Amino acid sequence: MAYETITTQTDGAVTTITLNRPQALNALSSVVLDELIDAFAAYENDDSQLCAILTGSGDKAFAAGADIKEMSEKDAADFYLQDFFAKWTSHIVEAVRKPWIAAVNGFALGGGCELAMMADFIIASDKAKFGQPEIKLGVAPGMGGSQRLTRAVGKAKAMEMCLTGRMMDAEEAERSGLVARVVPHDTLMDEVRTTAATIAGMPPMAAMVNKEMVNAAYETFLGQGVLHERRLFQILTATEDKAEGMKAFIEKRDGQWKGR
Ligand code: HXC
Repeated sequence: MAYETITTQTDGAVTTITLNRPQALNALSSVVLDELIDAFAAYENDDSQLCAILTGSGDKAFAAGADIKEMSEKDAADFYLQDFFAKWTSHIVEAVRKPWIAAVNGFALGGGCELAMMADFIIASDKAKFGQPEIKLGVAPGMGGSQRLTRAVGKAKAMEMCLTGRMMDAEEAERSGLVARVVPHDTLMDEVRTTAATIAGMPPMAAMVNKEMVNAAYETFLGQGVLHERRLFQILTATEDKAEGMKAFIEKRDGQWKGR
């Protein structure tokens, strides 16, 4: 599929998807969502691709939010009847079981912050800024921001950010647990590609299971989560990659993965 609003690129086992509306600070229109769904499905279904990166084009923004111009033309019935924003959960968060990283290169506001938080983790440039400024538009987060931000940074900061719309810089975001790592702006993509290549070098099914386990911590009580983890661990012990991984360790060599 030829895309209008994103670009995709593969390098070895790593897919990079780039939001490409720099003139609108990569605002997330319905076309962007449809194209992201297609690009993520292509990544998910391609057995040669083992880690993905999502980033924004231009020097200024990852994504400055859902497209305000598009939303301004819709009324409540449109939003409800189209179940606006539902596909972010069903087609991006839930459908992508392989790992992906958000490389946040600038503003990640509103839906842009929410999209970054859908990733397995965020690596941010030191110029990144995060915020949920929807209140200033008379609305509120609609793609999971009030829930994921609160889980990431705790109630005090999440509530303050949602109620005031203030932005959090990269240093505060790292200190607060929103991002895994902050790196100098100019090195962001090199750093993220190195991390993605590390993940892509892991046994692929183990990578998927590790992702599923950590995500379960968001959804379950501790006892259920620990049981879920144990069962998934037990399933992994039946894989060829488990036998190979342990043999390779004992023989002091790198493992050769089959992905099963
Ligand atoms: C559509 C956007 C946009 C957005 C920026 N642009 N953000 N277009 N939707 N979310 C456009 C501007 O209109 C402008 O286009 C161009 O991008 C450059 O933006 P400027 O504002 O001129 O840049 P600057 O002065 O540097 O300010 C940067 C900014 C500001 C602070 C990031 O753009 C901003 O505040 N943007 C909106 C952030 C926001 O409120 N996001 C949340 C959206 S609501 P032109 O054509 O004028 O050059 C959301 C979820 C809603 O995400 C869920 C509930 C329904």
